[in-house]
Amino acid sequence: MKFKGVIFDLDGVICFTDKYHYKAWKTLADRLGIYFDEQINDRLRGVSRMASLEIILEKSEKHYSEEEKLRFAEEKNLIYRQLLAEMSPADISNEVRETLTRLRGMGVKLAIGSSSKNTPLILNKTQTAEYFDAVSDGNNITRSKPDPEVFLKAAEFLGLTSAECLVIEDAYSGIDAGVAGGFSTAGIGPASKYEKANYHLKSFADILSIE
Ligand code: BG6
Ligand code: MG
Repeated sequence: MKFKGVIFDLDGVICFTDKYHYKAWKTLADRLGIYFDEQINDRLRGVSRMASLEIILEKSEKHYSEEEKLRFAEEKNLIYRQLLAEMSPADISNEVRETLTRLRGMGVKLAIGSSSKNTPLILNKTQTAEYFDAVSDGNNITRSKPDPEVFLKAAEFLGLTSAECLVIEDAYSGIDAGVAGGFSTAGIGPASKYEKANYHLKSFADILSIE
């Protein structure tokens, strides 16, 4: 592998929290009488909590104040965190664990680059913090993907330049963020079809075949 560092998005790459995000947003949307479905949920991938709420409110006829919006986001987050509390090491596949171990064995530095403020909770519940040399997440950024800030910080924490790092993403907005930051990018899941990504992964272990 020619890259000195690999920066992984968390949700949809290392673990699968889409269903929990969906359940939590759906509970809020139902309470507010706002239409919400899986297709709208797909648009929230990689997008920050407040930006996700704005997408959900597109279907609302009511206008809400900033204060109300902050309360809604908090309400959703409490439901989401209750669901995350059920996560365990079994939520991380053997393929992911083995690939991360192999990369570390090759001397590649590994980091998380996630928009989520719940990153520490997820890493803790799934016991995956030990694989990563650095964590850049929603708690240390002011601009969400497609802005490259979260990945630039991750590279900085690793002591590497963006040209030395590969970004792994499942979200189109995440690939855009990687490209904007001058990183090479690999799309997985939905983003494996995105033509802007340099590499298109069929499965997580395919990272090991990148030269
Ligand atoms: C991203 C998810 O990883 O984190 C988005 O793909 C989510 O769907 C975002 O909105 C923010 O997450 P959190 O945990 O800070 O609400
Ligand atoms: Mg993601």
